[in-house]
Parts: sequence; structure tokens; C-alpha cells
Amino acid sequence: MKQILVTILIIVAVIALIVIAFTINQVGQEEQRMKTDLQYRSTLLAESLKETVEPNFINKSENYLQNVVEKFTDKERFAGLGIYDNKTKVIAVSSTIPEATSAAQEVVANAMDADKANGDFAKFGSRKVYLLAVPLHDDKSVVGALMVAQNAGYIDDRLNEIWKNNLIRLLIQASLLSFATILLIRWIIYEPIRGLVETLRLARMGNEGQSTKGLTNSLFFRPLVKEISNIKRSLMDARISASEEARLRLEKLDSPWTAERLKEFIKETLKGRTIFMVSNREPYIHIKNRGKIEFYFPASGLATAIEPVMRSCGGVWIAHGSGDADRLVVDNSNKINVPPDEPKYTLRRIWLTEEEETGYYYGFSNEGLWPICHIAHNRPTFRKEDWEKYVSVNQKFADTVLSEIKNHDRPIVLIQDFQLALVPRMVKAEHPGAVIGLFWHIPWPNPESFSICPWKKEILEGMLGADLIGFQTQLYCNNFIETVGRELESLIDFERFAITKGSHTSYIKPFPISIAFPNGFDETENQDGKEKLLKSLGIKTKYIGLGIDRLDYTKGILERLKAIEIFLNKYPSYRENFTFIQIAAPSRTKIQKYRDFAIEVEEETNRINSLLKTKSWKPIVLLGKHHSHEEIQRFYRLADFCLVTSLHDGMNLVAKEYVASRSDEKGVLILSQYTGASRELKDALIVNPYNGEQTANAIKEALQMTTKKQTKRMHDMREIIKNYNVYRWSAELLKTIADLG
Ligand code: F6P
Repeated sequence: MKQILVTILIIVAVIALIVIAFTINQVGQEEQRMKTDLQYRSTLLAESLKETVEPNFINKSENYLQNVVEKFTDKERFAGLGIYDNKTKVIAVSSTIPEATSAAQEVVANAMDADKANGDFAKFGSRKVYLLAVPLHDDKSVVGALMVAQNAGYIDDRLNEIWKNNLIRLLIQASLLSFATILLIRWIIYEPIRGLVETLRLARMGNEGQSTKGLTNSLFFRPLVKEISNIKRSLMDARISASEEARLRLEKLDSPWTAERLKEFIKETLKGRTIFMVSNREPYIHIKNRGKIEFYFPASGLATAIEPVMRSCGGVWIAHGSGDADRLVVDNSNKINVPPDEPKYTLRRIWLTEEEETGYYYGFSNEGLWPICHIAHNRPTFRKEDWEKYVSVNQKFADTVLSEIKNHDRPIVLIQDFQLALVPRMVKAEHPGAVIGLFWHIPWPNPESFSICPWKKEILEGMLGADLIGFQTQLYCNNFIETVGRELESLIDFERFAITKGSHTSYIKPFPISIAFPNGFDETENQDGKEKLLKSLGIKTKYIGLGIDRLDYTKGILERLKAIEIFLNKYPSYRENFTFIQIAAPSRTKIQKYRDFAIEVEEETNRINSLLKTKSWKPIVLLGKHHSHEEIQRFYRLADFCLVTSLHDGMNLVAKEYVASRSDEKGVLILSQYTGASRELKDALIVNPYNGEQTANAIKEALQMTTKKQTKRMHDMREIIKNYNVYRWSAELLKTIADLG
């Protein structure tokens, strides 16, 4: 309050100084103008009277002159007239002015001495006057003088009026400005600060519900609010972790896993051994945007799952640097500490040439291995030149891993996914002490399907360099063991699920991957936020369905759109009451099949929309761009159901993220039976994505499900994810690896 008063006082003082300086100047100018004007008018008057009085002045009678004098009295602003002889003796004077004043005589004497007009201001009693005398002549010399007196009091009146007006104006301005300042200080500074203080106070006291959301409207404080939100989150995390740690000592081992518990577990289990994560996709991609460097998180199940683990464990993550600004932010060893806002681990980037990326990533990985592993009726393409690039880029990754682990006796190397199938063997051959895990995020096909790969033996041998090979489900483990049994000379132990090739044994185990739970986005979307988001998309309907995918033909997006069409035809009462939002992040766009697929999705959307749309409604809103995690959370929280219709999917983390985001325990998950997630999330409405009628009926069931039933199902699914989150996934994986040696 004191500061506000001081601020206002300073503002008022500055304004007062300005107004006073301005008024002094204005008054000075006005005074000058009025005086000049008075002098000019007096001179004109004196000169014209002189012409009447001067001729034969000496011979004129005093009576005559007195008459002349009296004739001119009572004129406006005219105070009187006096005629003097050359001894300054009064000959005639108006009755309105005193006969003899020293001031008048001085003015008259000076005029006669100088033989020219002379004027000055004087006081007649309380009256201020201006006196101007002009000499009177006979033929030869000065014989007297004529003096006119003008009232000058109006000049002071006018100047006082200016002062008065300006001071009143000053008073009004100062009051208005003080009022405006108080309002501004309250709106712009006081309220946001008070909100922030309250947020921090509640966070300190452990109230997690308080949000800084309302404060983000304040333009000035947005960066501060962001920072404070981070501090608040860190504070919350620290509190949760601390209490969790305490609970750990008391509770049984399979109680919920958190980032902090994983950290503790790793400390105890790995005893200082560093973790080296290896994947094709990097967790943070730096790009140039209008001259600025920005980063974003990719639309990748792998990155979504692994990143929280790395945040918790620390270590080094080796990945392909694919962003156009990636090279600009790394150090001399191609490293950068991430997350960029709050570093927790090191990202070591590997650079690939365009040819390498084309052959290794787009070619062999995504046109060969991807379709062979997914039963989605897309023929794989195997090219020798792609395979050669796949081998050389895998070697590049292996060499980078080897350079990173060279000073570690028993490093733990966790290699991710099908793009790096050869890396385990390449690393093991050079550094046998390294304990290597390989996790295969996508399905493993049956042996017949895999057998068409021209380099199947090399792939299998490469993978068997790992000590532990993890798959999403037991079925994929079985498929893999059968495939190895068919293709390679090896010893298979079905009891321990182990494959021995030469002198090296690899263990095969299922580790269904999960997500961070809680995911750090615990708030439920308020009605206002929901309405704003829907309004921005032009959606006015009561019911909302949601699909979120990379634009990939394995995700069953076309089948899903068809099911929406069937649903709206079968249950027309939902028309204009229901909108389906499909978020489709562009993916692998250098591959023709992916570009064609993106066009097909758009065309199918347009076809259905033009068939069913009305003036104010269309059934499908397609958002074909990348969305951040924060943005996606908002969609999850407003959707009445989330529709996952993958034709074949190792796990599908969108399904788990939808469930994790629904802390309000509302909403329904409709889930393809061909996803790994359907093995765990049995309370979803499970559908065959190829069966449009069945999916349409599931949509109707979801929209008609009672809140009680939704809550029961959502609650149970949340419990499953809570109990088997990605922290537990990595703890089990790392424990198994640590037990191997
Ligand atoms: O989950 C399977 C997977 O291929 C991951 O390896 C990958 O991160 C994700 O899908 C996204 O694909 P991409 O990395 O090719 O964009």
C-alpha cells in the first residue's frame, strides 16, 4: 500500500510540475500579449487626441481643455485623460483620475524630456492603470503633454483566471490518473502477484489442486507464471517422491511405482552403473522457426514411454539428430543436456546423410521391417541398397555406443526397436562386458511371415547379440522363438525362454510397455476451457469422439472413419449432436505410401462430411498436424470416448494416455483387439476394427453409457496403468538385466 501511495505521489508531483511550468509559460505569453495590445491601443488613442488638443494648445482656455478631457471619460477600459504644461502642471484632468500623482508626473516629464511617447503601469488607489504620455508642441518646442490612462486591472484578472483553470485541470487530471494507476496496479500487478503467491503458498502446503491457469492471461507475467508452474510442479514431485520413499519402506514391493522410487531402485540395483539408451528417434527435436530455434517432442510411442524413465534415471540417450537446428545446439561431442528447460540426462546425437536416412530409415526400416511385422496387408519392399545402408547406419550407432561406453566395465545398454536390430551384436562383439537389452516396440510376426525377409538370418543374429530381448506380449515372444528355431542353428530352452547361439545366451521375455502415471497433467479440463477449444474448431455438438494417431496405415484410420459413417447412418438422432475429432500427425512423409495414405484419409473425411453435413455441422473434424503433449491432453479430457482402431499395434500408448488423462474417471475407451494394450485394458469396449458395424455399435454404447458405469470402468483401467506404469516397466527390465550379470 505504501508503495502504491508513493507511486501515486510521484505521478502527481510530476504532473504538477509539468502543469505549473506550462502555466508559467502560458501566463507570461498572455501577459506580454495583453500589455503590448494595451500599449498599442493607448498609443493610437493618444496620437488621435493629440491632433485635437495640440493646435494652438497655448491659446486654448482651460475650460475648453477640461471639456475635451471630460468628453473622453467613461469609455470602455479608458480610465481618463490629463493635459499638462511644460512644467508638468495639470491644465485639465478627467474627474475619474487623481489630479496629481507622482507616477503620472514622472511619465509626463519623461515624455517631454525625451520628446517622444512614454508609458508605464501605475496604481490609482487600488486600480491598476497604464499611463501613456505624448509631448505637445508649438512651432518650435515642447509646450506640454497629453496623458491617457487605461484600466489595466483586466490583465491581472485574465492571468488569475488562467492559473485557476489550470490548477482545476491539474486536480482533475491527478485524480483521474491516480484512479487509473490504482486500477492498473491492481489488475496488472497486484492480482496476478496475489494469485501467484497463493498458488505457491498452497503448493507449499501440499494442495495440488491449485492452478496458475487463470494467471496466464496476464501478458506481463506469462513467463513468470510458466517458471512458477515449473517450480510448483518440481515441489509437488519432490513431495510426492519423498512421501513415496517413506511409504516404500513400509509397503509391499508391488505398490505403485514413481519416478523417485525408480531412481532409488536403480541406485540400489545398478550400484552406479550408467544406463545408455539407444534409439533411432530422439526425444527432443530442435528446429528453426522464423529465425528462432525451437524444440518439440515427437509423436512417438517410444519417446513418450522412454523419456520419463531417462528423466528419472539420468544417463546418456543416443539417437539420430533429425531436426534442422539440432546441430546448432549441441556441444563439440554432439551432446546436449535435456529436457532443455530442466536438464536431467544427456542426449548424444548421431548425424545421418540424406542417403543413409533414405536407405536405413525410410527404406529398410519402414518399407521392409515395419510392414513385415505388422499384419496390415501392406506388402513389404526389400531393396539391397536399403539393406546396405541399414547395416552401415547400425554400425554407426554401434560405434557411437562403443565410444560412449569405452571407459565403463559393465555398462547397461538399452537398445530400442526395429531400426537398430543389428546393434546388439555389433556392440557385444567389441565390448563383451556390456550388458545389452533390446526392446522391440512393434509386433513380432509369425515365422512364415518373417521368412520372406531376404536378410532374416542377419537380423536374428544381430538381435541375439543382446542378453535380454523384450517384446510387448508373450505371443510375440513365442513368435520370435519359433522364428529363430526355424531360421538359425541354436539351442532353445522353452523352460527359461532362452536361446543359446554359439556361446552366448539371450533371454526372451514380455515387458508390456506403459506410460508415466501420474503423467503430470492432473488437472481436469474446466467447462470454460472445453468450450473455448471446441469453439476454436467451430464445434457445437454435445458429444465428442476422439482419435489421435500418427498418419500410418497400421492405425486403422480409414476403418474408423467408415465406422463413424455407419454409426451416423444407423443412429441418425446423433447427427448434429456428435462430432468426431481426428488428430493425425504427419509421419514418414518421404515414403509414397504414407503420402498416399494421408490423401486417402483426407478424401474419406471429405466424402463422409459432404454426404452427411448440414448447414451448421459436419461429422468429422480432421486436424492433420503435430500437436504437443499439452494440447493433446486437452482433447483427451473433453472427449466422451477415444477410438483406437489399429489394425495391428505392438502396444498403442494413445489408449493408455487417454485413460491416464481422465483423472475425472469419465469417458470411454474403444480399443482394437489387435493392440497390445487390449491385453491389459479389459474395461475398454473391445472391437475388431475391420468390423464397422461392431465399432459403430460400440460408439453408441459409449455415448449411452451411464456415468456410474464409465467411472467404474475408467477407475479400474486407471488402477491397471497406475500399478503397471513405465517406471515399473523399466524397473522390471533393468532388474532382469542386472540379474543377468
Ligand atoms: O512404436 C513404434 C515406432 O516405430 C517407434 O519406434 C517410433 O518411435 C514410433 O513408432 C514413431 O515412428 P517414427 O519414429 O518412425 O516417427
